[in-house]
Amino acid sequence: MVIKNIAVLPGDGIGPEIMAEAIKVLDVVQKKYEVTFNFNSAPVGGAAWDKFQDHLPKETLQICQEADAILFGSVGGPVSEQHLTKWRGVEVNSLLGLRKKFGLYANLRPAKLYPALAFASPLRKDIAKKGFDILVIRELTGGIYFGQPKGREGKGEDESAYDTMIYMRKEIKKIAHVAFKTAEKRKKKVTSIDKANVLTTMVFWREVVKEVAKEYSDVEYEPMYVDNAAMQLIRNPKQFDVLLCGNMFGDILSDEAAAISGSLGMLPSASLADGTFGMYEPGGGSAPDIAGSGIANPIAQILSAAMMLKYSLAMNDAARSIEKAVEDVLNDGYRTIDIWQEGMKKVCTKEIGDLIAENI
Ligand code: IPM
Ligand code: MG
Repeated sequence: MVIKNIAVLPGDGIGPEIMAEAIKVLDVVQKKYEVTFNFNSAPVGGAAWDKFQDHLPKETLQICQEADAILFGSVGGPVSEQHLTKWRGVEVNSLLGLRKKFGLYANLRPAKLYPALAFASPLRKDIAKKGFDILVIRELTGGIYFGQPKGREGKGEDESAYDTMIYMRKEIKKIAHVAFKTAEKRKKKVTSIDKANVLTTMVFWREVVKEVAKEYSDVEYEPMYVDNAAMQLIRNPKQFDVLLCGNMFGDILSDEAAAISGSLGMLPSASLADGTFGMYEPGGGSAPDIAGSGIANPIAQILSAAMMLKYSLAMNDAARSIEKAVEDVLNDGYRTIDIWQEGMKKVCTKEIGDLIAENI
């Protein structure tokens, strides 16, 4: 029997509730497939702060280190007004810390418009009707997020602040290969996002990606300026397959792609290191406003578990069975409130988790 260690970091807000449903689904998977999961839970974000005055405690890092993969909930909160900056600080630091610590350089963020959920998209109806299936591949451990120097200096009117956008050839090549290899298994198109009309870093980005593209003659390669891409996403999202982005542009465009799908509660993500290690988390935030009320949509967390099976645990069939179960339950008309519409069956977090688990 194969044994896999999974670090479970539920975090804050709705994190624990939706995580419980993902674990429920993984429990069914371990009964049906030849595998045993060791789930090791650890606090992160605000939950860790409450206990250890540390958003990413050593104990948590240790558990992650010993794991085959990290299943992450969400962080941030409970946010009271006077704690806002502090909590925001917590939120930012624990995520960036995990990414850097484990070399999670490749961030995969699928944004898919499920035909059954097209009504929830803010896109114009005729555009939404065509659907789309985009995968944002975002470089996650470099660029302006981590570039040095960064800082503040001076005083008064002369005070200034700066960050550095920097990419090494090897970093660009590495993420570009991930994008082209992934596109080969999809619709064979990579749109590489840059700002090569202004930024030197991005001129270099375009040059290097173009070189890598030559190695993948079966994949269509197209460079696009980020401002144009932001517009094209709204006008004609169906043209895209893989969107290859640096850290900051990927941050921005992945939110836009998620928003136009109309179902933030449905979108999983993966952050991958070299080899098979990865961290998997839902696209939505900790949603403190609905935490504890049992109405959150756990599908993003459940699909993140499916991505974990696929990318870290070499369990493609099991991953596919989860995705299929989710589609079946949606097609049967069961919906949490965020994706509910007249005529559909309204269910709570636990109920939709049960239904998905039963369908595996
Ligand atoms: C994301 C978030 C993070 C980022 C923040 C919380 C640091 O926006 O995962 O997209 O900017 O990467
Ligand atoms: Mg973001």
